This record gives sequence, structure tokens and C-alpha cells, in this order.
Amino acid sequence: MTDISAQLQSMREQYDQEPLRRASMNVCPLSQFASWLDDAVSAKVYDPNACSLSTVDDQNRPVARAVLLKGIEDGRFIFYTNYNSRKARHLTSNPKACMHFPWFALQRQVMVTGEVSKVEDSKAEEYFLSRPLLSQLGAWASSQSEELDSRETLEKSFLEAKGKYGGKPPKPPHWGGYYLVPNSIEFWQGGPNRLHDRFLYEKVQPKSDWDMRRLNP
Ligand SMILES: Cc1cc2nc3c(=O)[nH]c(=O)nc-3n(C[C@H](O)[C@H](O)[C@H](O)COP(=O)(O)O)c2cc1C
Repeated sequence: MTDISAQLQSMREQYDQEPLRRASMNVCPLSQFASWLDDAVSAKVYDPNACSLSTVDDQNRPVARAVLLKGIEDGRFIFYTNYNSRKARHLTSNPKACMHFPWFALQRQVMVTGEVSKVEDSKAEEYFLSRPLLSQLGAWASSQSEELDSRETLEKSFLEAKGKYGGKPPKPPHWGGYYLVPNSIEFWQGGPNRLHDRFLYEKVQPKSDWDMRRLNP
């Protein structure tokens, strides 16, 4: 039998990116983010807009799961989901979240933290209607985060939605998006000898300018 711990202990990647210099970092973290996202797209990173979204429940227990970043508008990061889901319950009791972009193939990660608020229903509807039909039906079929007795029940629910709405499902009332308004954005890039680069941008007040500092790795 393989000793999983021994195996894990021997797993070791070398990081070897060119050092990041302060002068090369954009003064605006949103522009810096756009540039790194472009790099992830060019490098054909799988799901470059996927991130881990962390929330906390009403007892301050953290939970993370993946969501897709679907826009950045007026400095706000946008994702879509089910308003009855577990993450939505968490965001109701504590509207703070972190989006972690794991661009490990580029030896990079970005952490975006901030306050969330719901996207306007008209905007969510516009995006919902731009999604492929089967994804639209899937949103009707799934009571996200609720217990499900079998896969068959889900498939039946999908076929019911298909029968009911055909080729033109409306946006479900419980489906929508969130804006995350960042108050900190950290960029990390791997360097040789574990001398990685970290730059943390923070806003003291929502309206203040971004302050940027280098952190120890
Ligand atoms: C790559 C990837 C992208 C995903 N994107 C979304 C998304 O944009 N919105 C969403 O609600 N769930 C998305 N999911 C599913 C979530 O990770 C999660 O299972 C679901 O939202 C339920 O989470 P919750 O019970 O904590 O609310 C994605 C999963 C993966 C693996």
C-alpha cells in the first residue's frame, strides 16, 4: 500500500518566475488583475475565470467552493448563483467574501476580498438569457445545496423544466448574481528558493485610493 503521507511529503515543485518588481505592478489592482487574467487566458489555463469563493456561516465556520467570475464592472467582481444556496445563506448573514484565483500553472494566485451585494434583477436576467438553453434549464432543475435523493430525481426535474418552458425558460426568481466590491487584492507569484513575490493592495475607506505594499512570502 502506498504511504500517502510519504508521497505527499516528497511532492515538491520548484517555482522559478522572474522576480516581480514594484515598478512593474500597475497602480490600479483592477488593471493588474485584468493583465494577469489575460496571461491566464493566453496560457490556456483551464477555466481561467474560475475561482474559489469563500464565505462564512452564521457560526463563523468558513466554506469554499468554485464559482465563475462573469464580469468586472465599476471595480466590482460579478458571479452568478442560486439565492437559496448555502453560499447565499452565508452571504445573507455575513455579506463578506473572498475570491481566490488559482492560476497555479503560471505559479500565480490572486485573492480578492470584500463586501457583496446582489446584482440588479434586470442585469441577472440579461445574463441568464445569454446562457446556453441547457444551463438555463439546469438552473430550474436544481434546488442548489438542498438534499437530493437520487440522480434520477434531478434528471426528472430537468425534463419537467424542459417540458414546461421548452426553448424559452425565464430566469428563475431564485437565480441571480452578486457584486463583490474589493477592499483588498493580493497578487502572489512564485520565485526561486521560496522567495516568492507578494503585493497587497488595500483600501482603508471605500472611496480612498489603493495603497500597495510588498509582503514577505
Ligand atoms: C469550475 C467550477 C465552476 C463553478 N461555477 C459556479 C458558479 O458560477 N455558480 C454556482 O452557483 N456554482 C458554481 N459551481 C458549483 C459550486 O462550486 C458549488 O458546488 C455550488 O454553487 C453549491 O455551493 P454551496 O452549496 O456552497 O452554495 C462551480 C463549480 C466548479 C467546479
